[in-house]
Amino acid sequence: MVEKISIIDAPKHVDQEVQIGAWLTDKRSSGKISFLQLRDGTAFFQGVVVKGEVDDETYALVKDLRQETSMNITGVIHEDKRSHFGYEIEINNIEVVGESHDFPITPKEHGIEFLLDHRHLWLRSRRPYAIMEIRNEMIKATYDFFYNHGFLKLDPPLITDSAAEGTTELFHIDYFNKDAYLSQTGQLYEEAGAMAFGKVFSFGPVFRAEKSKTRRHLTEFWMIEPEMAFYHQEESLQLQEQYIAYLVQRVLDNCDYALKLLDRDPEILKRYTQLPYPRVTYDDAIEMLQKNGFDIKWGDDFGSPEETFISNQYDRPVFVLNYPKAIKAFYMKPHPTRDDVVICADLLAPEGYGEIIGGSERATDYDYLKQQILDHHLNLEDYQWYLDLRKYGSVPHSGFGLGLERAISWICHLDHLREAIPFPRMLNRMRP
Ligand code: 4AD
Ligand code: MG
Repeated sequence: MVEKISIIDAPKHVDQEVQIGAWLTDKRSSGKISFLQLRDGTAFFQGVVVKGEVDDETYALVKDLRQETSMNITGVIHEDKRSHFGYEIEINNIEVVGESHDFPITPKEHGIEFLLDHRHLWLRSRRPYAIMEIRNEMIKATYDFFYNHGFLKLDPPLITDSAAEGTTELFHIDYFNKDAYLSQTGQLYEEAGAMAFGKVFSFGPVFRAEKSKTRRHLTEFWMIEPEMAFYHQEESLQLQEQYIAYLVQRVLDNCDYALKLLDRDPEILKRYTQLPYPRVTYDDAIEMLQKNGFDIKWGDDFGSPEETFISNQYDRPVFVLNYPKAIKAFYMKPHPTRDDVVICADLLAPEGYGEIIGGSERATDYDYLKQQILDHHLNLEDYQWYLDLRKYGSVPHSGFGLGLERAISWICHLDHLREAIPFPRMLNRMRP
């Protein structure tokens, strides 16, 4: 029996005869030789069929193979130094498994809307393959990092009656005749978890009814939200930069082939593993922007041109510290000596990718937090359980949220977040 392998394992089988289940992505013939571009989900490589070296029936079959025909291929693995992958298969036999006719995504260029309409098929192409490989590595690395640091994964509910990140971007649902929302953040529940288990994290989808069409916003995205009891902001910032550097390092270590397919230079990524990351206060950032011609005043939030300008001053991600209280969420810890800013930080990614992390130390004082809830016009009754956390052994604690697709876009150097998630949800798109 010939051993059945995946393409990715071809390097371990040089000069051996193997069987591979694969799809055809493209085909080229010249005289007595045909080149089949193959994929099996683990990698892409080339199969070579030589007339005279396979039986006539097999050679004739090659003519009829169409893009995305699936087949069982038997052949011998050889090195192929000219390809990204480095190996090819010299085919002895082909057995067609499923025919394919008129596959809509051809090797020519297609517009982005066409590709998104065919996302279920587009996923088979090289670029989505490379991005999903990197996404998958970052998911694995996230679990490894937090488990190695003694965290417990605590899954927050996705149906909630709270609006921790503001009331304007909520997806409303009818919950047995009561108002409920799809969760924008698991944070408040993670805070309960931190008081129960010390260090916890969540990793799941969150929902925001973003009515703006930008390259940085999805309506459904995946967030990683660690929350740590007895952590002050400083300890949280150190954890954040270690986590980001670890994510980048894991991609460098394990996604060489995917980075090549995306034409992403590993030397650039290596810079981002250098710690510590620089820090700038919101106050200083405003001054820097004003000096450089931005029409912005203290108290304004940054848009993407401002974030890009700030991050361009540094060669790695940069923390912007202590934003005005008025533009941040209600739960952030007030500054000890100033009442206009809070103890928080956003981490801005280089190369114009903007905010990838938002985090803060949390307010611990019962009365302060209660007043904040009222000042933000939130319904006190909905937050009573959250206030309880400040009633029974309240401790300093900090946490943050990383937007997975933002981080992927940055690491893969994508133009738009929609390519960082298998099936993007945006203002005008929920199919497929
Ligand atoms: O800054 P945000 O709103 O922070 C929170 O939700 C906190 N509760 C997190 C915490 O402290 N536990 O969102 C966190 C991150 C942002 O930095 C960004 O990377 C990403 O989530 N993000 C989005 N990603 C894609 N599409 C959107 N519409 C996003 N909005 C935020
Ligand atoms: Mg934010």
